[in-house]
Amino acid sequence: MAEQQAAAAVQAEHDEARDGAAPGALRMGTAIVITSGKGGVGKTTSTANIGAALAARGRSVCLVDADVGLRNLDVVLGLENRVSHHFLDVIEKKCTLDEALVQDKRVPSMVLLPAAQTREKDDVVTADMAALIESLRRRFEYVLIDCPAGIEMGFKNAVAGAQRAIVVTTPEVSAVRDADRVVGLLPKGVEAQLIVNRLRPHLVRKGRMLSVAQVDEVLRLPLLGVIPDEPDVVVATNRGEPVSLSDASRSGEAYRRAVARLEGEQVEIEDYSGEGGFFERLAAWIGGRR
Ligand SMILES: Nc1ncnc2c1ncn2[C@@H]1O[C@H](COP(=O)(O)OP(=O)(O)O)[C@@H](O)[C@H]1O
Ligand SMILES: [Mg+2]
Repeated sequence: MAEQQAAAAVQAEHDEARDGAAPGALRMGTAIVITSGKGGVGKTTSTANIGAALAARGRSVCLVDADVGLRNLDVVLGLENRVSHHFLDVIEKKCTLDEALVQDKRVPSMVLLPAAQTREKDDVVTADMAALIESLRRRFEYVLIDCPAGIEMGFKNAVAGAQRAIVVTTPEVSAVRDADRVVGLLPKGVEAQLIVNRLRPHLVRKGRMLSVAQVDEVLRLPLLGVIPDEPDVVVATNRGEPVSLSDASRSGEAYRRAVARLEGEQVEIEDYSGEGGFFERLAAWIGGRR
């Protein structure tokens, strides 16, 4: 009950801050970069799912695919056929921002600003990227930036206009170590939170995978979410449908709870230690028979 009251108070404050602004006054949204040290840990998946869950809560959201040369956020969202321009076209004034934005099919308050597939990461000037993100913050409550892997130019450009960062890691020693490096490279003043993705409770119980507590011990970041490893995430990705819009998905539910925390609600961190998904239970059963 106290938790619900606290959440309601946070929400009221949030609404008041926005609604209290004079009509026509500039209400800047929040730019959040989704980053990691190691590649393939779920940055793009997390960007799509957090964005969709925010939009489903009624927020206006712009997803920026900053992974120049490797664009795939449009595919994860099932929007690839509707991409005609990309953010470099906007920066280079080859098209307007509105011409480049692609509206989502399921949650209309979410749009995508695609990445250029045929260009190099070094084609982007950091100051131009920061200015673009600032202009998006004037129009959207949330600007989520899907960061490329690595810590070179692409990373610097992606973090340039952000106020907050979501650091994604899997519970693997190498991914956690790389995440730690990235946290140290975030510009001063960027507030970082952590998502532990692809957790397999069954392996944690057997001591074959790091637990959330062990990851936390190394990274010491506020925990935004713990997302279980589930086959439906891969299926949804192939279909271009974020799992966070599906009531039936456990990973989707975990993303929705992470988004509630992102918006300041007090939501308990999931404890998966006493359970496992169907495949986990099956694997445990087969393992037990050997
Ligand atoms: N929670 C999860 N459960 C199962 N598969 C996942 C999960 N998160 C990500 N994946 C899969 O991992 C792969 C890499 O994810 P992706 O988001 O592209 O990583 P990154 O953007 O960090 O390179 C994709 O095939 C994706 O479907
Ligand atoms: Mg990616």
